[in-house]
Amino acid sequence: MTTPLRALALIAGVMLAATVSAVAQTPAEGPPPYRPSLADLMSTTVQPRHVKLAFAGREKNWVFAAYELKQLSDAFDRLSLQWPQWRQQRIVELVETIVRDPLFELDIAIKNKDEAKFAEYYGHLTDACNACHQAALQTPVVIQDPKESMFPDQDFRPKP
Ligand code: HEC
Repeated sequence: MTTPLRALALIAGVMLAATVSAVAQTPAEGPPPYRPSLADLMSTTVQPRHVKLAFAGREKNWVFAAYELKQLSDAFDRLSLQWPQWRQQRIVELVETIVRDPLFELDIAIKNKDEAKFAEYYGHLTDACNACHQAALQTPVVIQDPKESMFPDQDFRPKP
């Protein structure tokens, strides 16, 4: 390359680099990405599934119960990734030590289509919700066996 050409190539290279870095530095338009709070995730990904699971068991709809149990377990996985630490609490460890056992027990009851065991282990799951709320000092949040479904558009009965 001759010297003038080399100079031109250099200038072009510098301009390209400047453009790329200007694009990279341009602030994105609009609000920052939404990060759901732990309470948002509890109310939208955990609480409804806790309710649905109860109705699946009451209707002895074991296929749906297995589905919903997986959804609930996955919801705990995702919130542990988003909030491994929440204030002073290691959420990821609390999930492993408090809810994994009742989820495992429920899995067995569902596989055995055992209504009595399902009810017993569902009670353990609800106790686990409250145990973690107490551990995390969220004592005003009290979970119970749901009395009514809040999903009037969902049929929990097994398919004939
Ligand atoms: C690993 C610990 C842990 C477990 C297990 C847990 N929670 Fe929570 N939950 C929390 C914490 C911490 C908060 C408070 C979060 C906040 O204020 O941002 C909370 C808050 C809540 C709230 C209040 C949210 C709101 O905005 O009103 C509900 C409802 C809830 N949890 C439901 C449940 C249910 C149902 C279960 C069991 C299936 C459960 N949680 C299991 C830690 C846990």
